[in-house]
Amino acid sequence: MDVIASLCKRRGFIFQSSEIYGGLNGFWDYGPLGTQLKRNIREAWWMDVVQRRDDVVGLDASIIMHPKVWEASGHVGGFADPMVDCKVCKKRYKADNFCEEQGQELIRTATGFALPPGLQCTSCGSKDLTEPRSFNLMFKTFVGPVEDGSSVAYLRPETAQGIFAQFSNVLDTSRQKVPFGIAQIGKAFRNEINPRNYTFRSREFEQMELEFFIKPGTDAEWHAYWVNERMKWYASIGLPSSSLHQDVHPKEKLAHYASACVDVQYDFPFGRQELEGIAARGNYDLSRHQEFSGKTLDYFNQETNERFVPHVVEPSAGVDRIALAILCNAYREEWIAKGKDEGAAGQVIEAELGKPAPEGYEARTVMRFHPRVAPIKVAVFPLLKNKPELVAKGREIFESLRSVWPCFWDVAGAIGRRYRRQDEAGTPYCVTVDFQTLQDDTVTVRERDSMKQERVAVKELDHLMWQRLR
Ligand code: GAP
Repeated sequence: MDVIASLCKRRGFIFQSSEIYGGLNGFWDYGPLGTQLKRNIREAWWMDVVQRRDDVVGLDASIIMHPKVWEASGHVGGFADPMVDCKVCKKRYKADNFCEEQGQELIRTATGFALPPGLQCTSCGSKDLTEPRSFNLMFKTFVGPVEDGSSVAYLRPETAQGIFAQFSNVLDTSRQKVPFGIAQIGKAFRNEINPRNYTFRSREFEQMELEFFIKPGTDAEWHAYWVNERMKWYASIGLPSSSLHQDVHPKEKLAHYASACVDVQYDFPFGRQELEGIAARGNYDLSRHQEFSGKTLDYFNQETNERFVPHVVEPSAGVDRIALAILCNAYREEWIAKGKDEGAAGQVIEAELGKPAPEGYEARTVMRFHPRVAPIKVAVFPLLKNKPELVAKGREIFESLRSVWPCFWDVAGAIGRRYRRQDEAGTPYCVTVDFQTLQDDTVTVRERDSMKQERVAVKELDHLMWQRLR
């Protein structure tokens, strides 16, 4: 992770939030390449979950909603982690991790939690600890000028509730019929006690959530359908099936209203962890909002004369976690034969991390992003920056390509150095404009992974990129 985090900082994928002030734990900023990577993830999700389907529509709900939303959803009462404080040095711990680190298990009681004997503060060694106390993970704020109990509101801890709260309005305006879905991408906030593993567990993050409303009794088949769809989507953005896993929750561990839940997990360098949860949640959410709002949130099927509160299947994914998985999956260090690095088989070996390249080889770091998510799709280089005719021709090609794709223009340094910079950024194709271009209107197209070069007519470039970049 350290190697990947260092590349992310050096190349402008991810920075610590407010770094010049020492950072803020659990918050991250995305630099130019990271921003584009995240945009591509969102767009790929929106394309496959919304745009290419007849039965899903979009929503963009507000981050701060009526506080009753969170009472209905159960977040005010139940979205809490038990915490333990050291009474001497005041250090605060998440109770389950605190016990686990000392080889013990947190005890569940009828009313909450209790600590097993013999634990001590790992900071000062004191055994004077509080009993576990609940700590709500929602960020609180106040709406309006008066800061009292009546103006308390919360930053949403998930985007899903905005969808449930707008179920009727979307149904009435979109001409959809059950089964259909409402999709939303947006920020969510959780005051995580223990943000960790780089961006994996953050306090501000982004979710891509679909609530797919179905007829009661069809839950199992729609759940299986969405698990399958989501696994295909992960393959389409280049995450290999060998690194992805389905964690099927056993029935006894499901919430009382849920009939199935599968987590999609990825093998991160710090272990196997969740990217997305796909849950069949029955009609719990809509029923709770009916109860708390007093408004009817049911569906009337005119063909069969049936009225029911729809059940829901919810695939809920995290943009930041998917970005991190893509970064981890893409990272490679390779050794390539010096001087003749472009193409021929046998001249590339996978580097041993941390070791210098052997005699006759040089190291390259390459981000093998799938073209669908690569932040920059094509880089354009005029061979020499002091030849105006090469620069002008290069610029013409660049302007044409960048009206469709995110592109990069680089005139500085030897071509080999320019290739290396794009390898690190994960750019799938580099186009070089040379003297032959001026004679026959062809360019060199160099592919990132194989490093093979081919000569392509300028008029074929657009078509070639359409074929290869999607
Ligand atoms: N509406 C269901 C829901 O919010 P969740 O499992 O709590 O379910 C869904 O969150 C997804 O959101 C997770 O699979 C993960 O990708 C992302 N996520 C949750 N908490 C996160 C955090 N603290 N940092 C980054 N991503 C997070």
